[in-house]
Amino acid sequence: GIDTSKLLSTTGRVALDIGFVNTASCTSEITYIDGDAGVLRYRGYPIDQLAGQASFLEVSYLLIYGELPTADQLEAFDQRIRRHTLLHEDLKQFFNGFPRDAHPMPVLSSAVSALSTFYQDSLDPFSPEQVELSTVRLLAKLPTIAAYAYKKSVGQPMLYPDNSLGLVENFLRMTFGFPAEPYEADPELVKALDMLFVLHADHEQNCSTSTVRLVGSSHANLFASVSAGINALFGPLHGGANQSVLEMLEAIKRDGGDIPRFVERVKNKEPGVKLMGFGHRVYKNYDPRAAIVKQTADTVLSKLGGNNELLDLARQLEEIALSDDYFIERKLYPNVDFYTGLIYRAMGFPVRMFTVLFALGRVPGWIAQWREMIEDPATKIGRPRQVYTGPAERSFLEIAQR
Ligand code: ACO
Repeated sequence: GIDTSKLLSTTGRVALDIGFVNTASCTSEITYIDGDAGVLRYRGYPIDQLAGQASFLEVSYLLIYGELPTADQLEAFDQRIRRHTLLHEDLKQFFNGFPRDAHPMPVLSSAVSALSTFYQDSLDPFSPEQVELSTVRLLAKLPTIAAYAYKKSVGQPMLYPDNSLGLVENFLRMTFGFPAEPYEADPELVKALDMLFVLHADHEQNCSTSTVRLVGSSHANLFASVSAGINALFGPLHGGANQSVLEMLEAIKRDGGDIPRFVERVKNKEPGVKLMGFGHRVYKNYDPRAAIVKQTADTVLSKLGGNNELLDLARQLEEIALSDDYFIERKLYPNVDFYTGLIYRAMGFPVRMFTVLFALGRVPGWIAQWREMIEDPATKIGRPRQVYTGPAERSFLEIAQR
């Protein structure tokens, strides 16, 4: 209900807001964040009530359709997703074409982009039936694609999905299972991964979600829009931070565990040296997701036998940073990525799969935001303006005169 023409003149005057620090690009009913108070809510429900109580599938339903499902609605949603987990056999061939050492994130985005070529009967953004079909297809196929990307990177055979299993168990089996062997996922592992997916499920207009909306605002289909979002998530300042955190902790350990020296390098702003997993554009208080992950890291790591040495290092690093004026003045706290990598590693995932796990968690949020954007009559194509700082008009010179 906001009349944007009253806020900004669209002719002659533009607002310069590099990084969109103060600019809202849309109205949304999906996710609420209060960065000063450290509050995050999906459709009004606080994250700490959802995490551990609602399953990832329930939360996906909540984000996409606006309400928590009844038992019957959840069952129907689950069954629909299970029916769509298979990938077209020809799409499977794509995985063979990538180099063995390819990072799984671009493999993921390429395969999601390719869904537009295989599932052409669900590309019309203005057909509710087709949007529904592409929604279910994307939710169902992304775990299969992610597991195939993993199997490709380790040179192991790919497993077809087993639709007697729920989404998370199916993904774990396709990732860690072998064709001729039975695989039963540890229920603790399933529970922990499901909860981590819940924590990542949406985060309003972050870089990847804004990308999904911007691409979709040109009426590009859901697969194309989400593929772009996956590429945005790949960057180390966004979803790629979970990989960078673990690499940072390992580097500190290799250097003899000298945390104060590392913190000094961060404060001196040495090129490329940042405290990864710290800081957030919106949270200027503890990230509520990080608080939940930190609580669970201990329990999960002791159950799954993770690397407690790196966890200790992370804790010390957090303690030192939180009592240092540099971080206090800038209101830098751990974000969701600071502790997740340690859990993912304890679960057996290689570091390069961490951001893929983030993408699996974030996909219902991308879908919900894309659908809200498409359904909103106020949506216009995203087309920011600029402030031109190049040369004033000048005359062309023949090449011999230059
Ligand atoms: N380590 C050291 N200094 C930092 C960090 C950090 N992680 N984050 C911010 N700062 C400093 C900046 O250098 C800047 O200092 P200055 O005022 O002296 O120039 C100040 O804090 C403000 O930082 P900005 O970069 O302006 O903050 P912005 O909102 O643009 O960036 C971001 C947010 C990208 C998350 C940033 O904090 C960062 O790079 N963090 C590390 C990467 C990371 O963990 N990303 C994950 C984010 S959460 C997510 O996507 C799930």
